[in-house]
Amino acid sequence: MQTDSSSVFITGATGFIGQRLVSCLLEQGHAVRAMVRPEKKSSSQIPLACEQIPVGLTDVDKLTGIVAESKAVIYCAGSVRGRNLTDFSVANIQGIQALIDASERASNAPPLLLVSSLAASQPQLSDYARSKNAGEQLLLGKPLLPWTIIRPPAVYGPGDQDMLRVLKMVRRGLLLHAGPRDQHVSLLHVDDLASAVVAWLLASQCCRHKTYAIDDGTPGGYTWDAIGEAVSKKKLRALKLPRLSMDIVATANVLFSKLLGYAPMFSPGKVRELIQPEWLCDNSSFTDATGWKPQLDLKQGAERLFKPD
Ligand SMILES: NC(=O)c1ccc[n+]([C@@H]2O[C@H](COP(=O)([O-])OP(=O)(O)OC[C@H]3O[C@@H](n4cnc5c(N)ncnc54)[C@H](OP(=O)(O)O)[C@@H]3O)[C@@H](O)[C@H]2O)c1
Repeated sequence: MQTDSSSVFITGATGFIGQRLVSCLLEQGHAVRAMVRPEKKSSSQIPLACEQIPVGLTDVDKLTGIVAESKAVIYCAGSVRGRNLTDFSVANIQGIQALIDASERASNAPPLLLVSSLAASQPQLSDYARSKNAGEQLLLGKPLLPWTIIRPPAVYGPGDQDMLRVLKMVRRGLLLHAGPRDQHVSLLHVDDLASAVVAWLLASQCCRHKTYAIDDGTPGGYTWDAIGEAVSKKKLRALKLPRLSMDIVATANVLFSKLLGYAPMFSPGKVRELIQPEWLCDNSSFTDATGWKPQLDLKQGAERLFKPD
């Protein structure tokens, strides 16, 4: 195991965003150590060049040593599926508390980046949003730790399934939307999120104690028609999903998830998130602090995503 303080420690490295972050950090010449669940011991989703550390997300004792040996810590673990706040709590709240405890125990805590979510700005909408907000609150109460929070909007790119389903439908010419057709949503390609994290790493001093909501730089985000125009060359048919049907399906999904023992993505809380009129970001303060600029708007991101078509 490496023991110098030259590596970046990352949680959530096996996930959609975490995998891209690890690759990007390695490409930029950073040594990376990735947390894997102790019961898994190692993961094939993590590149060989990255050291894998089996450690529980809430194992403060072990985390203390790891944090003390790292030049930076990126918390990218998270639960995006669940029935209630308890389901979201371990990855979105308790793991952050454990990392705070570990950082406070380690002398000279390294910079810590929390990959939160734009949903944290609307905690009343869902248990997911509430858990992301609660995770952020833990850091806000720690002025002595060198933390930064990034709130991405919906992130898409290779390896993601959720946004891909929506974008594939739009590509075929079907705009199936839950919110209003003139809803304004910010989006971000996962490669741009990864480059933002690399930019943070180089300028973390300037980002201390700041919360940034960053997107692909499209002013006002995207309406459904703008998404259609960016993603598809076909004539578009729009279909608004009725709120009542969504609520019925979401409630049934949560009930089935209890019976069958899976973690549901589509829940009444998710419906409330989906119909929000606006989910918007603003890059200006993060760009001022780090020099980062996104490279891919949705048209370019979709071209990259659907390249083999
Ligand atoms: N995807 C988006 O559009 C989006 C947008 C905004 C914010 N975010 C945030 O970005 C973060 C990553 O999202 P993602 O889309 O990459 O999610 P993901 O693909 O579901 O990955 C989640 C990661 O967290 C780890 N994890 C979850 N629970 C854990 C636990 N109890 N112990 C240890 N590890 C645990 C998973 O490990 P295993 O592989 O071992 O399960 C995985 O590495 C999340 O915090 C999410 O809220 C995502």
